[in-house]
Amino acid sequence: MRKLLLIGYGNVGKAFRNLLYKWEDDLKAEVAGVITRRGLMIGNSPEFRKDADASIVEAIDKLKPDVLIDMASANYRDGEPSLSAYLHAFEMGADVITTNKAPLAIRYSEIMEKAKKEGRRIGFQGTVMSGTPSVNLYKVLPLAKVKKIRGILNGTTNFILTEMYKGRDFSEALNEAKRLGYAEEDPTIDLNGFDAGAKLTILANLMLCRRVKIGEFPIKGIENLKLDDVEGAKKRGSKVKLIAYADEKEIAVRPMEIDVNDPLFSIDGVENSLEITNEIQRVSIRGPGAGPETAAYAAISDLFIINGTK
Ligand SMILES: NC(=O)c1ccc[n+]([C@@H]2O[C@H](COP(=O)([O-])OP(=O)(O)OC[C@H]3O[C@@H](n4cnc5c(N)ncnc54)[C@H](OP(=O)(O)O)[C@@H]3O)[C@@H](O)[C@H]2O)c1
Repeated sequence: MRKLLLIGYGNVGKAFRNLLYKWEDDLKAEVAGVITRRGLMIGNSPEFRKDADASIVEAIDKLKPDVLIDMASANYRDGEPSLSAYLHAFEMGADVITTNKAPLAIRYSEIMEKAKKEGRRIGFQGTVMSGTPSVNLYKVLPLAKVKKIRGILNGTTNFILTEMYKGRDFSEALNEAKRLGYAEEDPTIDLNGFDAGAKLTILANLMLCRRVKIGEFPIKGIENLKLDDVEGAKKRGSKVKLIAYADEKEIAVRPMEIDVNDPLFSIDGVENSLEITNEIQRVSIRGPGAGPETAAYAAISDLFIINGTK
């Protein structure tokens, strides 16, 4: 059995543990410990109980996991403590799987170079579109050079824009998103486009080899969009969508008017979608972009892939 150390035991962490239990025999993996802000739990129990105080690096040294699974809250200031934990895990011979976008959005190249140097793997499907394959879709489109990527990568803003298209004003639509649990109490990083920007950063590094970090390209959100803007577009037969776009030269997140012939026109509510155009063809995928179980399933998929290809 492969030993797993989980960082974070919130909504995604708990859903991951349930799915792991369900597919334990196929995955040949077991939880050796869980670390949260509250401390380290050694072993596997449905309810978190603290056994010791430890940093993540100390927990890695103590438990010697085969795979570190990061399902902790994102820290966009410096990516810590996850960033240092990944680098240490690679040195200690562990692979890493993450649903936490922050370290990769800030230090993609450094993490990938270290993994390569140490001969380790990193799975990060859960950082973009949760369990709907975006990162892992790219892995099965080998060799063909990617020309551009384009998508709707944030469910909260897409839900708000869909409600505005139906005639609700921005604050009404936001309140409805909060009531249904689609928006956080503080939805700032969704509304201002930062969350979509973090996801685009990861995809642009992976698929277009663009060595960008979050903050290095233009991001515009929907927080200043008026109902009039959305209704004006509707009169012209269009919809306003928050589009994440990258090619060899450009990279940006911004609200754009798109017409009925655009495949992204029909992506409504909290659904997400991604189009990858490579030198051979265009491939599109659509599906849920958030939710604890689908995010946990992303980490399970990564574990399956890492196990199966060793
Ligand atoms: N929920 C989703 O739909 C979804 C989808 C895709 C990706 N994600 C990403 O997955 C991650 C987890 O999401 P979630 O919804 O499970 O969040 P959550 O319910 O808020 O849980 C976060 C967990 O991270 C732990 N944590 C925070 N800072 C930590 C630190 N410095 N060291 C160790 N543990 C720390 C927390 O510890 P305590 O328990 O001690 O507070 C908690 O257990 C986030 O990065 C999120 O962006 C979530």
